[in-house]
Amino acid sequence: MEKVKMILDCDTGHDDAIALMVAARHPQIELLGVTVVAGNQVLEKTLPNTLNVCQHLNINVPVYGGMDRPMVRDQVTAGDVHGKSGLDGPVFDALTRKAEKKHAVNFIIDTLMESDGDITLVPVGPLTNIAMAMRLQPAIVRKIKRIVLMGGAVGLGNTTPAAEFNIYVDPEAAHVVLTSGVPIVMMPLDLTNTALADMKIIERMEAIGNKAGKLFGDIMRFTFKSQAVNGLTAGPVHDVTAVTYLVIPEIYHTQDMYVEVELNRGPSYGRTVCDMNDRFHKTPNVTVGLSLDLDKFWDLVEETLRRHE
Ligand code: BDR
Ligand code: CA
Repeated sequence: MEKVKMILDCDTGHDDAIALMVAARHPQIELLGVTVVAGNQVLEKTLPNTLNVCQHLNINVPVYGGMDRPMVRDQVTAGDVHGKSGLDGPVFDALTRKAEKKHAVNFIIDTLMESDGDITLVPVGPLTNIAMAMRLQPAIVRKIKRIVLMGGAVGLGNTTPAAEFNIYVDPEAAHVVLTSGVPIVMMPLDLTNTALADMKIIERMEAIGNKAGKLFGDIMRFTFKSQAVNGLTAGPVHDVTAVTYLVIPEIYHTQDMYVEVELNRGPSYGRTVCDMNDRFHKTPNVTVGLSLDLDKFWDLVEETLRRHE
């Protein structure tokens, strides 16, 4: 099987770090680069967090710093879930690994424009970098094979009652992406909140006995505690579900539907309105993940972590 070429766009972040670990070592994925955006924390933290994970696990993929704030709205971060650093829990050696000089948005544009239209974008943070790239060079839209993102919710949000974090942080960017015409697959909270790293999963990954398994444990043990804020029993690995979709889509139950982002500044600002029952009679623009086979999902995560040091 041909490898899936992808760019990971993240705001590392606990689950982002695991998504990066899976994307970097899955044999059917070719990770072309990692672009970083502000989200879980400010860019001055999400960028070093990403580099720390790469340095720690010897992941030799170029990392690019991107947008340090949303397109329109005031900045929001998630210190309540991800801690002061954005990746509280693991302890890393002094950071020597550097980001590339090129801006993430320019990397996305240049890489897509030079491509044969065979690159998948996997954004697992706010959609600012992707939307900015689309606005700066609209010709990239026909070059993107597909966008597989983590964000939004069919039901309730996790940041406001209505909105999921990644969309809430930059609703205008999400609007640009969802109305772009690019084929989009969305992993909403309703699905990602079922991918919980409970103690059994944490101990299973730690038992691999390598650096990646230990890092998984250090990361998810922190999230295990902090997730009480959303009434969950353990920390979800939200972002990983977007990466694994690239190689095992058959374990997901999905439905095509029309999805629109609420841009009015009321209590539903940033909500993804998912027209599951076709009430608007509009052409579906998103394939929404509704559930996945968790046994097969965790098997794949474990197999991939085993490929690390
Ligand atoms: C999303 O928000 C972030 O906190 C996580 O990394 C994930 O991408 C879940 O709402
Ligand atoms: Ca994220």
